[in-house]
Amino acid sequence: MTPQAAHAGAILTVDLAAVRSNYRLLRQQAGKATVGAAVKANAYGLGADKVGPTLAAEGCRHFFVAHLDEGIALRPQLPATAEIFVLHGAPPATERELIAHGLTPVLNSLQQIEAWHALAHSLERPLPAIFQVDTGMSRMGLPATEAEAWLANPAFMKSIPPRFLMSHLACAEHQSHPMNASQLARFQSWRQRLPHIPASLANSSGIFLGADFQFDLVRPGAALYGIAPVAGVANPLQPVVALHGRIIQCRTIQRGEHVGYGISYSATEERRIATIGVGYADGWLRSMSNRGIAFIDGQPTPMVGTVSMDSITLDVSGIASERLQAGASVELIGPHRPLDDVARLAGSIGYEILTDLGRRYHREYIGG
Ligand SMILES: Cc1ncc(COP(=O)(O)O)c(C=O)c1O
Repeated sequence: MTPQAAHAGAILTVDLAAVRSNYRLLRQQAGKATVGAAVKANAYGLGADKVGPTLAAEGCRHFFVAHLDEGIALRPQLPATAEIFVLHGAPPATERELIAHGLTPVLNSLQQIEAWHALAHSLERPLPAIFQVDTGMSRMGLPATEAEAWLANPAFMKSIPPRFLMSHLACAEHQSHPMNASQLARFQSWRQRLPHIPASLANSSGIFLGADFQFDLVRPGAALYGIAPVAGVANPLQPVVALHGRIIQCRTIQRGEHVGYGISYSATEERRIATIGVGYADGWLRSMSNRGIAFIDGQPTPMVGTVSMDSITLDVSGIASERLQAGASVELIGPHRPLDDVARLAGSIGYEILTDLGRRYHREYIGG
């Protein structure tokens, strides 16, 4: 164990070989569509500086970040042939910075279109962009009236040529949800008016909705990082993260004694309690208080008591005492406890668990 690993309360392992294998599986699944990658939010908390180059080495050339600064940080990590698209577009008056850093905006409003057009005009050269149309999520993208205004002005097509026409699905993980067909129909009607422009609709789950949803470019994030793309169906992707905490100390409590803040757990008989150095400050959500199971040498141990800022407590009464030494490893996310199961117990989703993963963990990248 390295000194840094020995200092940390927990070790987060990120398997880059699994990211690569997931990318390949998505490529098979996506048929003729090119497979890009959503690496926003620091590649969902896993490290865009590691995940980005790993995917670039697999041939990925279309990367999506949310913010301008994420794009600026990612640019030096990727080959010059890789395109980086900024999903939120340029914040007002920052358009030139996108050019300076080789980034392409996703234009979501007429205001963003006009600003990008004005820059193209002043630089006297075309500036490509992705155009996002809203097909029912009412979150990002041109509402119908603004999309009409864009199409009505031929100057825009010339000065800011569309790289892709894009939209985003709201309910794709639920394959029979009527919203999928409704969004597809709306997207296709925009596309019919722009038949020569490549199109992009699907996120991870959208890829699994079938060929009709795949168009020219798909934009998976979650599936690359091992999150199940289809609700209620076995996950075909490889797990990418594992989290192992460590025992700080153990004690025996008697019937009627309590554990943790708010004494939300009380023993009904003698119990052995282990304290682990992972808490809500590390992204172990407080909603997991008195819920969940960790594993010690493959054996389940229930979590008891309230999640503290820096620690959680386990009932380890069923574990042999020689396995409960200070420093012993405890599986919090791993082969016995998949990420999606942890998320379900927390009343959350794998995306939130990943993006909350703590900065205090020692991170080990394997398979790079
Ligand atoms: C516009 C857009 N495209 C693609 C993605 C990737 O989605 P997922 O992680 O579900 O594959 C996201 C993520 O939220 C997104 O906002």
